[in-house]
Amino acid sequence: MASLTIRKLDEHVKTYLRLRSATNGRSVEEEVRVILGELIQGRPELPGASISSAEAPAQAPRPVSTSSARNVTLIIGGGIAAFKSLELIRRLKERHIDVRCVLTKAAQQFVTPLSASALSHERVYTDLFDPGSEFDAGHIRLARECDLIIVAPATADLMAKMAQGHADDLASAILLAADRPILLAPAMNPLMWNNAATRRNVLQLRRDGVQMIGPNAGEMAESNEAGVGRMSEAVEIAAAAVDILRPPQPRPLAGKRVLITAGPTHEPIDPVRYIANRSSGKQGFAIAVAAQAAGADVTLVSGPVDLHDPAGVTVIRVESARDMLHRVQAALPADIAIFAAAVADWRVANEGEQKLKKTSAGMPPLQLVENPDILATISKLTDKRPPLVIGFAAETEHLIDNAKAKIARKGCDWIVANDVSPATGVMGGDRNTVHLLTRDGDDIGVESWPVMTKEQVATELVAKIAKSVEKNS
Ligand SMILES: Cc1cc2nc3c(=O)[nH]c(=O)nc-3n(C[C@H](O)[C@H](O)[C@H](O)COP(=O)(O)O)c2cc1C
Repeated sequence: MASLTIRKLDEHVKTYLRLRSATNGRSVEEEVRVILGELIQGRPELPGASISSAEAPAQAPRPVSTSSARNVTLIIGGGIAAFKSLELIRRLKERHIDVRCVLTKAAQQFVTPLSASALSHERVYTDLFDPGSEFDAGHIRLARECDLIIVAPATADLMAKMAQGHADDLASAILLAADRPILLAPAMNPLMWNNAATRRNVLQLRRDGVQMIGPNAGEMAESNEAGVGRMSEAVEIAAAAVDILRPPQPRPLAGKRVLITAGPTHEPIDPVRYIANRSSGKQGFAIAVAAQAAGADVTLVSGPVDLHDPAGVTVIRVESARDMLHRVQAALPADIAIFAAAVADWRVANEGEQKLKKTSAGMPPLQLVENPDILATISKLTDKRPPLVIGFAAETEHLIDNAKAKIARKGCDWIVANDVSPATGVMGGDRNTVHLLTRDGDDIGVESWPVMTKEQVATELVAKIAKSVEKNS
């Protein structure tokens, strides 16, 4: 299992984690654990999706339905941010989500049922003991006949009631009877948010499987104070709702380990100079993203590139071809290996220990030696050879013939051949024209794909891989 070094994360991710962990009174590591736990909630097909029984929600929410109609029960609590919930109704409806509103008694001090009803085009519910809706246990229907329950603003009081399992008004009764995902948008004064009682309740609710968005840092509407406690903006809450409501994506590579290389290698001449090539790493990174989205456990060994680590992918940064080979070998076993890196064929044999100086003797001779061939080395392994090994062939002439020869010479299973002559703009560009060569015994099939973005090439390639994995399983 790969380990995650928080120190190596992007600055903006670290800032977010620090803020969020401070807000929640947890260590950064604990926060990452909670975030990962939230992420895999309801995705039991993911490897490692099980949550320890001590932290598992007592009753897991029913998965979101796959039908296209989306319904949200929006509970509006008694906070000053309730006015933003009226905008939230509009934002949800813009996204074709039907909204039924429940207003607590306190919420009605801030917004009227009439406004919520006019915006949602639905009846608004306020009373647990309403004979008009409770003749058939209306609160249970409001809890169940929806795909998601949003509480915005989630006041300190409402969260305390939820954490304790109260059911003495319509909102708390719905929340206690719910078997649907619940999204809270907390909003309160920073002192209330940081109060030990609220901290306990937030922790309890997270452990119960309740999801949260915000609160954000900023100025408080009702006072001259600032801090963490502002309700997330309506668009942020609507986007989070859409994410939760999105039907689960097919994950055909779930449980598979995919190893990918990307980018160029830098072969040192001396401590400051190196030999490199124009590879941007975009194609390999795009494949890593597509494989991760398909459910694979992805390790990406990348040469020096100017690209962010894709979310959910274990990224190992290397410099030279030899580093890359070592890290690839260390990352085995894998079910699928995709070698998209443009590895330098040669390195400098007589690498200078100090910076080479201009001398009257003229240019120092550079002796080149061949680098290890990563694709061939891994393809020819007898013990840990991945069942599917895919190489890339970057050619400037006789593309298909050279790629066919490469597949035989290297011993890999597939080759993605691309023309990298300068006129194509492939090296460093965003588009690619590839031919997929697949070996079946002595036969080599060739499929020529139209010009596509590198992301589209990645998606297609991963779809082909998924098909092949399915066929061979
Ligand atoms: C002007 C005013 C603003 C308030 N704003 C908030 C708030 O933003 N967040 C909060 O948790 N409570 C706030 N309160 C306190 C709640 O209204 C109070 O705790 C209420 O019982 C919450 O009701 P609920 O459980 O129906 O949300 C505010 C009270 C007043 C008078």
